[in-house]
Amino acid sequence: MYDIHNHVLPAVDDGSMGMRMSLRMLEQAILQGITHVVCTPHANDRAAEQADELFQHAFNRLVAEVKARELPVQLGLASEIMFGADLQKTLSHPFATFLGGGRYFLIEFSRETPFEIILNVVRASRRWKLRPVLAHYERYRYACKQKSQPERIRAEGGILTLDAGSLIGQFGKPMVKVSTKLIEWECVDILASDAHDDDTHGFCLKQGREAVALLHSAEAASRMTIDNPRRIWDNLPWPG
Ligand SMILES: [Fe+2]
Repeated sequence: MYDIHNHVLPAVDDGSMGMRMSLRMLEQAILQGITHVVCTPHANDRAAEQADELFQHAFNRLVAEVKARELPVQLGLASEIMFGADLQKTLSHPFATFLGGGRYFLIEFSRETPFEIILNVVRASRRWKLRPVLAHYERYRYACKQKSQPERIRAEGGILTLDAGSLIGQFGKPMVKVSTKLIEWECVDILASDAHDDDTHGFCLKQGREAVALLHSAEAASRMTIDNPRRIWDNLPWPG
């Protein structure tokens, strides 16, 4: 499986607290059947120029440790960008797009963001020849009220992701409810772990995948954890 959203990079954000924790997290990911991990640290709390250097340095250290231990997992680098006024400028930096491919980027919004704003960001991104990958769409309550909203976002070129933890109950029943609804509406493109630690918020794609298979189908579960995220890893065009 491919995990394209997590905070496994050591000591750069509110995720892994250090190299030892990062390695434990990756060992858990491997046990889950995850073969490819894109590290996506939060990029919103520091200047873009600093982030490039900091993330690349931490990434190089992690890659070296993984290689030294011969862990069977491949790593890539991107970041999770909080929507804000400087979005277009932020997007011009190498860390902004998945594996520096210049095609896909991971964006998050605050929970109360109105649907129209999310839609406008998707439209703007497409004008800039980029595909926005929307982190944990289930959190945006004003964009999950009716099926037509996520359908509209996807029709305009947005890629919808769901945190596996939301679906399996890590964030309470309301999140399970809205996540289930999104799966039933067939509006989820990708399932991601959004792992932050090696404990209660670790890599959980396996459980998420099993939940999707039960709720919908094994094919949908594979599409969300292998085929669609692999397209982003390989920097291939999105269909449609
Ligand atoms: Fe995240």
